[in-house]
Amino acid sequence: MKTVGIEAIGVAVPKAYLELSDLAKARGVPEGKFAEGLGLSQMSVPGPHDDTVSLAAQAAVAALKGVDVWNIGLCIVGTETAVDHSKPVSSFLQGLLHLPPHCRVFETKHACYGGTAGLMTALDWIRAGSNRGRKALVICSDLARYGLNTPGEPTQGAGAVALLVSEQPDLAEISPVVGTYSRDVMDFWRPLYRKDAIVDGHYSMSCYLEALKSAFLAWQVEQNGFKPFVADRFSSIVYHVPFPKMARKAHDALREFDGDREAAKSFEWQVKSGLELPRRVGNLYTGSLYLSLASVLATDDRDLDNAQLALFSYGSGSCAEFFTMKVTPGAQKKVRALGLIKRLEERKRLSVDEYERLMRAAEHDDRAAVEHEGVHGFLGVKEDRRLYALG
Ligand code: CAA
Repeated sequence: MKTVGIEAIGVAVPKAYLELSDLAKARGVPEGKFAEGLGLSQMSVPGPHDDTVSLAAQAAVAALKGVDVWNIGLCIVGTETAVDHSKPVSSFLQGLLHLPPHCRVFETKHACYGGTAGLMTALDWIRAGSNRGRKALVICSDLARYGLNTPGEPTQGAGAVALLVSEQPDLAEISPVVGTYSRDVMDFWRPLYRKDAIVDGHYSMSCYLEALKSAFLAWQVEQNGFKPFVADRFSSIVYHVPFPKMARKAHDALREFDGDREAAKSFEWQVKSGLELPRRVGNLYTGSLYLSLASVLATDDRDLDNAQLALFSYGSGSCAEFFTMKVTPGAQKKVRALGLIKRLEERKRLSVDEYERLMRAAEHDDRAAVEHEGVHGFLGVKEDRRLYALG
């Protein structure tokens, strides 16, 4: 079977953020609840020119550096915060990125699992030989919104992660053995008439944990049948991170399910480096898992050449996948060169007032007239058409 995996990665986050200690103060909540209780310190806040398309385009440009776009044969955008009921984000990108006309472009939706659905499709497209030497671009892009003064408010965020998928996996080779689990549940959803998601918060956490154990079990069955302590062989286990404490709960549950009586002990070496970026960015919905992967490769102190990583993707509603990858030598250097930590440090800190104004304005942005010149990203709407400029 062909060697297939991730050749390059690109990450885009808005240029502004909110300190969650400021939000805690404004909401009359003890600081410890967001910091220790949820594991979060900051969250990305999208500005008027950030939307799912503009963030996806920025992430894609980073992933495509030095790549001939004429060689992209498939572009899939996973998102649950699309900008149009009909025209997919991928079509906007086809124009902005000058993807070739023979490129198949479409959008996938399945809550936070939509990006993984795209990744699995791209891998299978290449393994089947349908790519005929071409590469796939899979982009996860979302604005995670629950609304002001809701329990979900501190777990918002925004951003995009782009994955270049090919037969030249310079970052990581992905195994074809996966464990899948799906179940019809009503844990998190967003009716067509709403901008903000609705979530049954505590129930969504139990759905996530049930899906984790079931997908892990399915993965074990797919390989050689059930063997205890297999989770110990992974240098890192990368989870979908709606908020970092969820990854901690997931890890405890997974290791315990795997037969480890001291599950908490492995958190430091198997999970922590994957939470460095998520705790400063917040939830990216589809991109959260892959931001956590970037976090491992950018911040882990160990030499991860040829290391085995496990990944768990969860999308409410629900569908989940447990899969594994082998880190290609040199991958850490390539991801560190993206300067992700520095980019987070250069963001503008917003006051709670500024954040609230942006949140309220976004309610109307879908109808905002084009009035900005010399800016990049989403420019506004003219005759019901969204317009963009790529910087
Ligand atoms: N100091 C330290 N810790 C404190 C504290 C304090 N002063 N006060 C509270 N805490 C702790 C609590 O003990 C709790 O920790 P444990 O769960 O370990 O006990 C934690 O802070 C949170 O407290 P609550 O459970 O009381 O918080 P809440 O009910 O107000 O909201 C939430 C928490 C349900 C996660 C809410 O933020 C939410 O709805 N978020 C969105 C839903 C979500 O992210 N679900 C995840 C699974 S679904 C999924 O993964 C898909 C997706 O991306 C949405």
